[in-house]
Amino acid sequence: MKSFNDLADFSHDEVEALLDLASRLHNHPEPQALQGKVLSLLFLSPSLRTLASFQAAMVRLGGGSFVISPNMSIHGLESRSGIVMDGVAAEHIREAVPVIASYGDAIGIRAFAERRNLEADLADAEFSELTELLDKPYINMESAINHPCQSLADWKTMNDLAIPQKGGKFVLSWAYHPRPLPLAVPAATVHMAAMRGMDVTVLRPEGFELPESIMNKATAAAEVSGGSVRETDDRQDAMQDAHVIYAKSWSSQHHYADRTSEQELRKGLEDWCVDEPWFENAQDSCRFMHCLPVRRGVVVSDAILDGPRSVVIHEAYNRMLAQMAVLHQMLGTRS
Ligand code: CP
Repeated sequence: MKSFNDLADFSHDEVEALLDLASRLHNHPEPQALQGKVLSLLFLSPSLRTLASFQAAMVRLGGGSFVISPNMSIHGLESRSGIVMDGVAAEHIREAVPVIASYGDAIGIRAFAERRNLEADLADAEFSELTELLDKPYINMESAINHPCQSLADWKTMNDLAIPQKGGKFVLSWAYHPRPLPLAVPAATVHMAAMRGMDVTVLRPEGFELPESIMNKATAAAEVSGGSVRETDDRQDAMQDAHVIYAKSWSSQHHYADRTSEQELRKGLEDWCVDEPWFENAQDSCRFMHCLPVRRGVVVSDAILDGPRSVVIHEAYNRMLAQMAVLHQMLGTRS
């Protein structure tokens, strides 16, 4: 495996094979599988789970890792092209990335959306510029428009819980948040559920439709898997017989990069906080999923998050197992 950048680069069976490997590594540990191998981890954006789970994954497979992030005592990093570097930043990303990569056998990179230009973010332009600097296998640890490690872990979590693939009803719901958030997780999630073969409903208030390219990609995946994808603002209709509700906030494409007008659009949407009444028409066993971190009392109530519907800790744990499978494939002796 030369890169792990997008679940769309794999077939349904290849994803299932990765998840079988994740379960095998859990049940039958291989503490020497990646002996002597080093994973470079570049975090240009914050993290808890991704940072910890990749390091833990490498240790559990017998390898090692190191982390570089701008808030460490490194030289200030410049990322703009064609800039005269007479300001604070003393090092350009164009040198930093290949240097960091050269110390490892593979590299993971996290770079959130700059949220200045919707088209550039939808094309994952910044992440592509970074990966073009590499001659090593790489892992997308969340870019402007993708979070494949989260999606792999979420797919595994649904498998673990025997949530149906064909006929499974998956609701991806927008949730209130005080700040506009990136499109990476909703884009990756709607595609993942569609690729898994589920009937996917994107539930969102008016103005928060997902961009056409994201919906088209998910629809194409559903056509292959036998699933379906639709969008609605009708909560009752969306939640009818749902097996899963996955909550996430995201920016409005109509106000992208314009914080003030997006703030106006959000006014009055504070009731988009998942709570028990949302589940009235859902399956009795309907689960609550979220990638974390999550704001209690804003995105979801304490009662749901602390109750039996919530599988958020299970999802976070599966990040480590899913990534162990990716690393095993990428860096193992048979890779
Ligand atoms: N879900 C996720 O990627 O968590 P972190 O941002 O903490 O890594």
